[in-house]
Amino acid sequence: MDIERLMADDRSRVDARLDALFMRAEAPSPRLDAAMRHGVMVGGKRLRPVLAYAAGRALGASDTALDGPAMAVELIHAYSLVHDDLPAMDDDDVRRGQATVHRAYDEATAILAGDALQTLAFEILADTAHPRLPAMVTSLARAAGRDGMAAGQALDLDAVGGHPDLTALATMHRHKTGALIHAAVRLGGLVAVAEDDERLLALEQYAAAIGLAFQIRDDVLDVTGDTAVLGKASGADAAREKPTYPTLLGLEGADAKASALVDEAVTALAPLGEAGHVLASLARYMIERDH
Ligand code: IPE
Ligand code: IPE
Ligand code: MG
Ligand code: MG
Ligand code: MG
Repeated sequence: MDIERLMADDRSRVDARLDALFMRAEAPSPRLDAAMRHGVMVGGKRLRPVLAYAAGRALGASDTALDGPAMAVELIHAYSLVHDDLPAMDDDDVRRGQATVHRAYDEATAILAGDALQTLAFEILADTAHPRLPAMVTSLARAAGRDGMAAGQALDLDAVGGHPDLTALATMHRHKTGALIHAAVRLGGLVAVAEDDERLLALEQYAAAIGLAFQIRDDVLDVTGDTAVLGKASGADAAREKPTYPTLLGLEGADAKASALVDEAVTALAPLGEAGHVLASLARYMIERDH
């Protein structure tokens, strides 16, 4: 199985569906729609949709049933990036190789675009006819909000210039990034099986490990990556005195931690047998990627 090919196919699949959201002839505010489209459609690896599809397929879900959850997690992710880049947060000018939304438009429009991307995510998810839809909505809401990403972003801002210990850093990373990756995998799994299915619990252990590994790799790439390849400014964390895995453990220590987490993720997939192979390859990709 060619993992790059699979990722490209899933990216095309979700991109076509996301793009269609912005093709309406009339919008109350065409400028707001355009800013939202900029935040979603301009680049992006679509890793969360890829994970949702892979998790669902591993347990027998159809691609069609997975489209809504896959789109919803990417819309939440896009919203989180639009707000993450705002001057009040990370104050970044470049994202996915293009101007950030507040640079291409203006700050107020970027705030509103993020807000509207978040609500659009729930609108799309709610359109998914499925008996376990309530559990999906709850999972996505918790992952995005005060028990998930938003809390992690708050911890991230509190940590600027500080010296958190490894436990506090892991808590911050698991919330700001891990929670949504966990939701991507869980929603995909919920399309196929009930909440108490042991394979879903295995997927969730897998997701918790790759979620942290993913942000550790993001921290490492901020040090070792190239701005042109990353599509966002490298060295931004150091410039803003953000505590990261490399600042606490050094680059080698951070790599070793990410690698151990991927081993943990792959081990967790054991109850899935052969069906877990794609997810295992995706876990390795999380820490081998260069952008
Ligand atoms: C970047 O996420 C933000 C983090 C949570 C680390 P991605 O690396 O998935 O960004 P895109 O979607 O590919 O641009
Ligand atoms: C982002 O973390 C986490 C989000 C919830 C968006 P970072 O601030 O490290 O992400 P990048 O490096 O700007 O993509
Ligand atoms: Mg940030
Ligand atoms: Mg940032
Ligand atoms: Mg980063």
